[in-house]
Amino acid sequence: MPTHYFLTIETTCDETAAAVVTDDLQVLASVVASQDALHRRYGGVVPEIASRAHVERVLPVIHEAIERSGIRLRDIAAIAVAYTPGLAGSLLVGLCAAKALCVALDIPLLGVHHLQAHVYACRIASGEEVFPCVGLVVSGGHTSFYRCLSPLDFELLGSTIDDAAGEAFDKVASMLKLPYPGGPSIQRAAEKGDPNAYDFPRGLLDDPDSLDFSFSGLKTAVRYAITGPGRHDLGDVSLSDVQVANLAASFQEAVVDCLVEKAMRAVKRSGVNKLCVGGGVAANARLRERLEAATKGAGIRLYVAPLRLCTDNAVMGAIAVEKWRAGRYDDLDLDIAPGVIRRG
Ligand code: KG4
Ligand code: ZN
Repeated sequence: MPTHYFLTIETTCDETAAAVVTDDLQVLASVVASQDALHRRYGGVVPEIASRAHVERVLPVIHEAIERSGIRLRDIAAIAVAYTPGLAGSLLVGLCAAKALCVALDIPLLGVHHLQAHVYACRIASGEEVFPCVGLVVSGGHTSFYRCLSPLDFELLGSTIDDAAGEAFDKVASMLKLPYPGGPSIQRAAEKGDPNAYDFPRGLLDDPDSLDFSFSGLKTAVRYAITGPGRHDLGDVSLSDVQVANLAASFQEAVVDCLVEKAMRAVKRSGVNKLCVGGGVAANARLRERLEAATKGAGIRLYVAPLRLCTDNAVMGAIAVEKWRAGRYDDLDLDIAPGVIRRG
């Protein structure tokens, strides 16, 4: 069978990305334009700034991906684009670009579920059959478990009831006056800290039936550890390097405890023996180390996305090749679905 080429587009949050992949999951080109520098001064993603930056960048990024891939636009079999979940304005930019190209080239449109794509990053990187598995997506906007029977059959098992893990990293980093994005900054600061210096809460961990997460109590506990009880204002507090390192390490350990323990429960409960972990927070070195230790010898095959495929990218949109193979094309009236995906 001749090779088929796919253009994949990703604009769910603050990365503008495009890739060219083949039906046998070869990556011919991957371009990611990060907006970190635009959002840094605000300590988090500002949706309006993000969507405007996508408008400016989406066509140059697509152009560069096509050029680097060595193929021509007219060689493309279908266009895949993330349409859910994410920031409304950001999603719209990618979806409109994809639709316009589908009309111009008269080729099918394939909608990508961004969180399922984060799990599929493990399939692409490993080259192995990872399904059926439990998928854990830990990103800036989401923290969710899926039972993934196949690349086309994902069932939501649990998710955060308040903040996402990455969001908690970003907010705690801002409290500690560490630069955005908070995940890498906290990881760096934590290297010199004591993970047991502070006894922070592990939200919902003592509920054996729950595969949901809660990180907002942890975030508040860090705030009070900084300001002292009864005070809320962080303005005039100054922390020593040792205090910052200890707070970062203790916070990180609390998040990792919740993720690892619940991942083990989710795998046991699902009757599968594979665990796939993706999303920006999956880049966290301590999380990766603890997942390795927990799954080793427990009869669980662990797949963690490689660093380049943890944070948002368009390569993982290759999950759409599975839809294409099954003939599950989307209509051109496909709409964005920004909101949180509900269970079932
Ligand atoms: O998957 P992603 O790029 O975007 C969303 O879909 O949300 O994830 C971004 C998140 C940010 O919150 C960032 O702080 C976090 O991933 N992150 C990390 C690390 N690298 C990125 N969190 C913890 N440790 C890291 N090394
Ligand atoms: Zn993501």
